[in-house]
Amino acid sequence: MNRVQVIEHPLVKHKLSLLRNVDTAHGDFRRICRELTVLVVYEATVDLPLTEITISTPMTETTVMRLHRPEPAVVAILRAGLIMAEATIELIPHAAVGHIGMYRDPETHQPVDYYAKLPDRLGDRAVFLVDPMLATGGSAVNALDTLKEAGATDIRLLCIVGCPEGVSAVHAAHPDVPLFLAAMDEGLDESDYIVPGLGDAGDRIFGTL
Ligand code: PRP
Ligand code: URA
Repeated sequence: MNRVQVIEHPLVKHKLSLLRNVDTAHGDFRRICRELTVLVVYEATVDLPLTEITISTPMTETTVMRLHRPEPAVVAILRAGLIMAEATIELIPHAAVGHIGMYRDPETHQPVDYYAKLPDRLGDRAVFLVDPMLATGGSAVNALDTLKEAGATDIRLLCIVGCPEGVSAVHAAHPDVPLFLAAMDEGLDESDYIVPGLGDAGDRIFGTL
């Protein structure tokens, strides 16, 4: 059964109010995506495994906890996931980074693959799959298939805006994958865009409207 966590936090709600606004310029849109990602990653990493090690401080020897190795992997669904991957590696600088390229066919709304480059030892890492939008869920399900085929077992899906249709699709295909969202919206329109949503995330991030 998927765990679905919608991050309920005043800062998340405030930043979403800016992100959704059609008048927000793409430079601000990019920055707010990064800021929201940091807040989502904070919640999605609360149970990351740690290893106890002994180190010397300037004062004495002591035991401390550090992230289990190999370090987590962050995998971006291109294009829009790039901005979330950037923000995630600000918090986890030694994370390995992977990319899965796909776009939604404008007619069928089905994902079309064009690229995949993934870190090694995926089965030994916590894997964070990042994409701002979970609409029909087709792209996320396809990327999760790719990650599992490459050996990943501990995968978390991090998005900014999701909707019940996308959550159900991920749930049906990958019930073991926990989902972390900044917002759960009402649903999809006739073009499979999220409403109220924020429009086309990739175009707004990269200024390609
Ligand atoms: C967007 C978004 C997701 C996908 C979500 O990408 O970033 O990858 O759509 O839709 P789905 O849940 O219905 O699959 P898009 O196809 O616009 O590509 P882009 O990031 O290259 O602009
Ligand atoms: N992709 C987007 O960027 N936005 C949506 O609302 C749906 C798919």
